[in-house]
Amino acid sequence: MNQVKIGRFIAAMRKQQHLTQREFAELLGVSDKTVSKWECGNGMPELSYMQSVCKILQIDLNELFSGERLTDTDYKKKAEENMMNLIEEAESLKKNIVGGSVLGTADDIEMDKYEVHRTNTAFWSTAGNELLGATALPAWGNFFPSEDKLRLLGDLTGKSVLEIGCGGGHSLKYAADSGAAGLYGLDISEEQIGRAWEYLASQGINAKLVCSPMEEECGLPADYFDLVYSVYGIGWTTDLNRTFERVRSYLKKDGIFVFGWSHPIHKCVSIEKGRLVFDNSYFNEKWYSANIGDREIMLSNRMMSTYVNALADSGFVIEKLVEEIDRERAAASGSDFGRKALMLPTVFVIRARKG
Ligand SMILES: C[S@@+](CC[C@H](N)C(=O)[O-])C[C@H]1O[C@@H](n2cnc3c(N)ncnc32)[C@H](O)[C@@H]1O
Repeated sequence: MNQVKIGRFIAAMRKQQHLTQREFAELLGVSDKTVSKWECGNGMPELSYMQSVCKILQIDLNELFSGERLTDTDYKKKAEENMMNLIEEAESLKKNIVGGSVLGTADDIEMDKYEVHRTNTAFWSTAGNELLGATALPAWGNFFPSEDKLRLLGDLTGKSVLEIGCGGGHSLKYAADSGAAGLYGLDISEEQIGRAWEYLASQGINAKLVCSPMEEECGLPADYFDLVYSVYGIGWTTDLNRTFERVRSYLKKDGIFVFGWSHPIHKCVSIEKGRLVFDNSYFNEKWYSANIGDREIMLSNRMMSTYVNALADSGFVIEKLVEEIDRERAAASGSDFGRKALMLPTVFVIRARKG
């Protein structure tokens, strides 16, 4: 939408009605500064004023969005153009939903692997896991039934396990407490590895920790692990297929891979005045950059079929896909996030076997 053209058009039409900026502003019930802002191309009248603007200036909405008088011949063409512009604008204003929070707008980016790694490493090196809520076992995510109830990891006694995106090491502690014998963790952030190391050492737990992007070769042993798991880790990858192929290579025959991530439908819907509103297309898998507090993250929203097909392409057999909600906890929370969780899944967990 060409705001400068629209601004000039508003000014011209106002003058044609022999109105000063102040008189026009008074008729609308806005300040003359607001009118000046529109006319300089620094903003559009809000939706609630658009009809009054058109009525006073004796133009219609299609002419307002086009920034010009329209003849019958170009009317339909312009209406279609304006409609497409509005859809594109709504798309670019899509909201960024991370965990339980709606965090303002997200800007589409061209994905550059190194830039994504640099940005997300900086985020995780300075931010604590608490920013995104429940991201360590036994929790798989907010309002999702806990691992103690679901038992998706199976019996860990004596098992060799690897966590992808091990963060501060709290899920590794859970695996150790559940009887796992050989513990490995992988994370892109040296600071997170340091935190995990300190935390596990303070608990008397011995683990091997590797600092690397999950997508890359990092020296982890092949055909070695009984279980690879990840809690809010996998979605950070820049290359899902490559990551799943790596995970498969680390597993023994019939080894198990379990991971949980934010449900793709959850990222599309926000709650406004108690009602669920679609803010983002489910089909939109573009990479975006957004801010949590004053720190930037880079992510993409993948569809459920993208995860499922990448697993199949990498030689996994899916044993279970869980989209449950702990309804009692969601209802008791009294929060918008809880109300949303009662209506759609906020988290999913997949258990797959190396085929
Ligand atoms: C939500 S935290 C995981 C917390 C963890 N489950 C726990 O128990 O504390 C996500 C982790 O993924 C890591 N990460 C982000 N991008 C990564 C990548 N490309 N490769 C490996 N780890 C990555 C981050 O550094 C962060 O520690």
